[in-house]
Amino acid sequence: MYQDIEQILISSAEIGAKVRDLGAAISRDYASKDLAIVAVLKGAAIFLADVSRAITVPVTFDFMAVSSYGSSTRSSGVVRILKDLDKSVEGRDVLVVEDIVDTGLTLNYLLDNLSSRNPASLEVCALLDKASRRQVPVGLKYVGFSIPDAFVVGYGLDYQDRYRNLPDICVLKSYGK
Ligand code: PRP
Repeated sequence: MYQDIEQILISSAEIGAKVRDLGAAISRDYASKDLAIVAVLKGAAIFLADVSRAITVPVTFDFMAVSSYGSSTRSSGVVRILKDLDKSVEGRDVLVVEDIVDTGLTLNYLLDNLSSRNPASLEVCALLDKASRRQVPVGLKYVGFSIPDAFVVGYGLDYQDRYRNLPDICVLKSYGK
């Protein structure tokens, strides 16, 4: 399974410790709130499964799936919603859970979209922040790890839909060569 992997960037043990810290911080901050997690498919699925089990306050989950339009329009940041929320988040304390923020375009669009639904609050928890690639500023309340500009897979992140099941976050061998 690891034959295409250059190196392990963040081990499953490091991820586990960080996820517990994030869950504890979220639990403190949302103790008297109405927490509604919105996870962005597919990459965030594994992070959601772990961080949500480290959260000790009442919480609901909902999911969105988005797809960016063709590469020529990618820089516009317009994304197509493939799956929308099942329930309204009006008046609720929405926490968007993402696996990675890269250019920020996807998240910027989603935050605009979600804020128009009048949540009581709207924040983001991202496991990975590739800040050097940012094209549009986005506020991240919770960040697991800041990472360099390498192509990473594992723990939900894919290359052509594969490698999501790796327990560690890894750098692919062929990237940049
Ligand atoms: C990834 C990630 C974010 C987005 C971040 O999703 O989950 O949604 O890219 O990139 P950006 O900051 O440059 O917009 P991806 O499109 O790879 O889909 P996936 O989650 O299904 O793998």
